[in-house]
Amino acid sequence: MRNFELDEDIWTALREATARLDAAHVDAPATTARLLLAHVLDRPKEWLIAHGDVKLDATAQQRFRSLLQRVIAHEPLAYVLGHREFYGLDLIVDRRVLIPRPETEMLVELALNELRIENEELRKSAGPDFSILNSQFSILDVGTGSGAIPIAIATHAPDVRILATDISTDALAVARLNAERHGVADRITLLQADLLDGIVALPPIITANLPYVTREEIEGLPPEIQAHEPRIALDGGEDGLALVRRLLEQIAARAETHDHASLLRAAFLEIGASQGPAALAAAQAILPHAHAEIKKDLAGLDRVLAIHFHG
Ligand SMILES: C[S@@+](CC[C@H](N)C(=O)[O-])C[C@H]1O[C@@H](n2cnc3c(N)ncnc32)[C@H](O)[C@@H]1O
Repeated sequence: MRNFELDEDIWTALREATARLDAAHVDAPATTARLLLAHVLDRPKEWLIAHGDVKLDATAQQRFRSLLQRVIAHEPLAYVLGHREFYGLDLIVDRRVLIPRPETEMLVELALNELRIENEELRKSAGPDFSILNSQFSILDVGTGSGAIPIAIATHAPDVRILATDISTDALAVARLNAERHGVADRITLLQADLLDGIVALPPIITANLPYVTREEIEGLPPEIQAHEPRIALDGGEDGLALVRRLLEQIAARAETHDHASLLRAAFLEIGASQGPAALAAAQAILPHAHAEIKKDLAGLDRVLAIHFHG
């Protein structure tokens, strides 16, 4: 590998880095090079364009070269930069968590909308006692990863309290950092659990973006995902729906045996684009008294299994 010149300026460094990224078939090489150098220099990437003739010192060159090497080795850019934007929030991400995807923002929208409807109904029926009713958990997020879903919901719903679970304690540690960073840690309770194990009473709304990649699909994923994102965040079993089915069964068991009238109103589960018919059939078989439907994302692809309880 060629060493950087000691007096290399920003333009030269970017030009050479772009060529190397392009040769390694990394997506959007010019933008990627700019993002990496902006990160190293702790400047907005627009600043680089206006300061192309500024010389890089040896430390900056060394650091840029090492980050560049990681991206060339197909480590995801979000891990190299250490953060990713989700629902307008800057989230810390590293190898312990799945990188939140834009399509998952749909779960946030659906939950916030359901919360609005529920709050209206509670306000009408509970009058002045509304705040007491509203003091319990309103939402359970299963498989929270970086905490993307509950943190996005909590920042847009100031009174909401959320229980967020994950089987991975590593992921929960990242979720805690993000919740603290965005000032919502006091309203999000993090719990290590295998799906709903240990959770008896269900809150009004459940969100879940559980792993749904099939075993076969995992083998064909790009190296950025296959070799770097946690396997436990991807592997959805033989047909991708193993965890979705198990979660539906656990919901059904609790809805039937719950001592108190169940508060559960709605569950929103992210699914893969080809899983709509199978996910719908599973929900109808496991929860025959609920209303299940598949919602499409902005690209027109099946994306969310939405289930409403209580008619
Ligand atoms: C596809 S990732 C989604 C993470 C996050 N919800 C998001 O949308 O960015 C799935 C998450 O589910 C967790 N998970 C896998 N199996 C689980 C299980 N049996 N119970 C609870 N969480 C599980 C993984 O650790 C991972 O964090």
